[in-house]
Amino acid sequence: MTVKKCLFPVAGLGTRFLPVTKEIAKEMLPLVNRPIISYGVEEALASGCDDIVMITGRTKRSIENYFDRSFELEDILKRRGKLELYYKMIRISEMAEIMYIRQREPLGLGHAVLCGEPVCKDEYFGVILPDDVFVGEEPVLSQLVKVHERLGGSVVALEHVEDKDVSRYGIVAGEEFEPGIFRVNDMVEKPRLSDAPSRYAIMGRYVLSPEIFTFLHTQQAGAGGEIQLTDAIRELAKTEPVWGVVYHGRRFDCGTQKGWLSANIQLALDDDELREVVMNIIKNN
Ligand code: UTP
Repeated sequence: MTVKKCLFPVAGLGTRFLPVTKEIAKEMLPLVNRPIISYGVEEALASGCDDIVMITGRTKRSIENYFDRSFELEDILKRRGKLELYYKMIRISEMAEIMYIRQREPLGLGHAVLCGEPVCKDEYFGVILPDDVFVGEEPVLSQLVKVHERLGGSVVALEHVEDKDVSRYGIVAGEEFEPGIFRVNDMVEKPRLSDAPSRYAIMGRYVLSPEIFTFLHTQQAGAGGEIQLTDAIRELAKTEPVWGVVYHGRRFDCGTQKGWLSANIQLALDDDELREVVMNIIKNN
């Protein structure tokens, strides 16, 4: 009862990053030394998911190209004797088996997950929203997979958020089953503080039952006119266990310019060589 497939919904418009995202996939923006999407794919692989399924859209071609071979570039690098770089490029294209499905219209995260039905309908599968980059000892998806293996059912990653941030997330209601693990019985997308059932917010990692597709099919557009994944998980929780796990690790929200900038600075500070560069800039200001 493990999880082998991982879905990456990356077809969103990325409006918080306009004008950059008019033509560029935000998932391809660099986070220190590699694109944001690369962190998510590494996390899926480290969590035991070998089959990666990306739900992409019009402006996301560069993601496919990044994980594909580039014979012309490889040839030039080889001829110029830049073998270290040559092998680095090959390794990226051999990192994972990736399948791509187009979401023709950005009708919401729930709809993006529904586009993965043909390949995920027979087994539990992981979902990674790559904007949320997690850094820590154990990959967050792996923490969720372990709970699924032990308790069965679906699992969502939770974070305790401050009052001011409650209205930005899907918030769960539930009972604590074990320290840090909740049995979720309800959830509400982007509630007002007064309506929020708790301070535990769902972050961008899930292990989902294939039954989720039944509920996504019948889901009406919810908050923001989009088909919300949260609404379908809420229905799922009425028929099957859904666990909420308070993850261990640090999260960076790279879906906003401020979050992306903070992530770059923080990860550079964590790097032995780059730390000095950042510290010098700060000192000179
Ligand atoms: P977001 O809510 O962050 O939306 O989507 P977005 O379009 O990426 O960015 P903003 O809010 O306009 O700035 C959460 C995740 O769901 C995917 C996104 O790509 C992101 O990984 N998504 C969202 C889809 O794949 N399709 C959609 O229709 C909507």
